[in-house]
Amino acid sequence: MASLPEIVEVEHGSGAYPIVIQDGLLTRIGGWLEPYLALRRVFVVSDEQVWASLGERLASALLQAKIGLVPLIVEAGEQSKSWEALIDLAQSLIQLGLERSDTILAFGGGVVGDLAGFAASIVKRGCSLVQVPTSLLAQVDSSVGGKTGINVEQGKNLIGTFHQPAAVFIDPELLETLPERQLRAGYAEIVKYGLIGDLGFFAWCEGCGPALIAGHPGLRSEAIAASARAKAKIVARDERETSGERALLNFGHSFGHALEAETGFGDTLLHGEAVAVGMCLALRYSAALGHCDLADAQRVEKHLASVGLPTTIAELGIATSGERLAEHMRHDKKAAAGKLSLILSRGIGSAFVDLNSDLQAVAAFLDREIGRDSKRHAALR
Ligand SMILES: NC(=O)c1ccc[n+]([C@@H]2O[C@H](COP(=O)([O-])OP(=O)(O)OC[C@H]3O[C@@H](n4cnc5c(N)ncnc54)[C@H](O)[C@@H]3O)[C@@H](O)[C@H]2O)c1
Ligand SMILES: [Zn+2]
Repeated sequence: MASLPEIVEVEHGSGAYPIVIQDGLLTRIGGWLEPYLALRRVFVVSDEQVWASLGERLASALLQAKIGLVPLIVEAGEQSKSWEALIDLAQSLIQLGLERSDTILAFGGGVVGDLAGFAASIVKRGCSLVQVPTSLLAQVDSSVGGKTGINVEQGKNLIGTFHQPAAVFIDPELLETLPERQLRAGYAEIVKYGLIGDLGFFAWCEGCGPALIAGHPGLRSEAIAASARAKAKIVARDERETSGERALLNFGHSFGHALEAETGFGDTLLHGEAVAVGMCLALRYSAALGHCDLADAQRVEKHLASVGLPTTIAELGIATSGERLAEHMRHDKKAAAGKLSLILSRGIGSAFVDLNSDLQAVAAFLDREIGRDSKRHAALR
């Protein structure tokens, strides 16, 4: 018998939508979708890898529910978040007869969600979007909150819209085909919710994280639901990132993005891996400034390392400098009016926004980090 679905409501400026989490949900997706479809069909946007792994399962569930399926499959990977891919997708949707009352179903990781969401917000001046996220990162983060976007030469996610989905349907069993490295990377975003505002949840992660990674299905659903609740709460209070509250979700991300920029935003360093190191850097920097205890930073490092995530710059094997990394941070979209805005911590579960971080001090801290790491590694050799 199927487990009961967990339903988290996300409230936003113009309404609310449910996040439904249930093992095996994909087989019953037709029934879940019905109330959201004006026309008895869906335009499914997916990527080649997800479609090869899970496409048949979605197609047969829709066939069973007599819901028509129009598939649009993009290349897997970050390169699909581009102007070219967006134009291609938008024009294909129109050529295939999409009406304004149609629904686009994003079936994939964060790349597909961001691209399909963007297309849904502009084609025919906006049509309905349903998210069925298939990566752990998308299930706990990117499918919720309504941010869509693509990357341009000048940086990641610089062009985009806010377009809230009509519903998000999460089947944790879809993670069975997700590569383990991607799973670990997504897990970093789960830990992030504990570090931002919930010490109890972080302690839960310490106890359950390794079993969750190893494949315990109940634990995965529990962590996904807790993450959805945490994100829903923040998004409800600050839908468009105006009060600073939503910015807390960027904990570890300014440092992380700088590391990703150094490695070219690709497979060398996955987003979640960069965030894992970034969160440790944010905690160690907070400790260096006297905002929190170094013991908190060490506790987080220990947990992330226990699930196989990196915690230091040296582990990433990139040759860089504090100045270079700080320069990337300055260019990051979170740097406003010449000041570096950073999410720091007063301890596990107490992140806060510091709008006036000193760029030079951050660069000097990063130099010490790089130096400390290389000394430690030299000692190990
Ligand atoms: N909109 C937001 O609020 C938000 C938040 C966080 C991240 N993002 C964006 O999300 C993107 C990263 O998302 P991601 O980590 O999911 O990357 P992704 O979409 O590239 O997925 C990672 C890889 O896993 C594969 N995959 C996904 N699900 C699978 C499954 N079940 N089985 C087999 N393979 C599967 C994909 O084909 C891809 O190769 C970034 O572009 C980031 O900017 C957006
Ligand atoms: Zn992230």
